Amino acid sequence: MVKFQCSIAINLVLLQCLLALVASQRFDFFYFVQQWPGSYCNTKQPCCYPTPAKPAADFGIHGLKPYYNNGSYPSNCDPNSPFNPSKISDLESSMQKNWPSLACPSNNGQAFWSHEWEKHGTCSKSVLDEHAYFKAALELKQKANLLQALKSAGITPGGSYSLKSIKHAITEAGGYTPWIECNKDSSGNYQLYQIYLCVDTSASKLIKCPVFPKGPCSSEIKFPSF
Ligand SMILES: *[C@@H]1O[C@H](CO)[C@@H](O)[C@H](O)[C@H]1NC(C)=O
Repeated sequence: MVKFQCSIAINLVLLQCLLALVASQRFDFFYFVQQWPGSYCNTKQPCCYPTPAKPAADFGIHGLKPYYNNGSYPSNCDPNSPFNPSKISDLESSMQKNWPSLACPSNNGQAFWSHEWEKHGTCSKSVLDEHAYFKAALELKQKANLLQALKSAGITPGGSYSLKSIKHAITEAGGYTPWIECNKDSSGNYQLYQIYLCVDTSASKLIKCPVFPKGPCSSEIKFPSF
């Protein structure tokens, strides 16, 4: 009887540990989303170059978003952790270059970063603080090197390519199948807008996507110049 009680006690402790672990994580993986500026700027919506300068013709970070395996996501997880630009001042020049905002009116990107941190970043706070969150995204961009991956397969801005060849080029370079989000240029043609890669909960390595988003596209798409 004593032994039985003991094992119940141990099980309760283990159960509590397990629950604490699950509760502290609260998400399953990240979508790391990068956008092609040429496809942001040639639609019916206006785009505005950031105040520092027109960004380079390269993919820019959109966000690093915690997701659940069922395809839904947590958001705005901690109103007590507002975006604090002074915490990432050492990353600012890299942020300007790699995570520019193309929203109007022209701005220095802080409103974009603030939105991403407060809506998405706060939901991965159990793993990454504000500085670690932005640093991880910058490092993932270097690692993924999408423009180079596409270029190696002969896919360059200004052409039209099969969706399949674009996915194949990125899979060859990074090891995992991406999801491609398309939007429409001002004439209504589908084009390469955003590329989604999946990343483990420590935001350090690419993984196979547990689930893909959904959205319309065509089998042949434009990769417009910028
Ligand atoms: C998806 O999973 C999360 C975490 O397990 C859960 O909180 C949420 O309710 C689920 N959403 C749907 C639509 O099933």
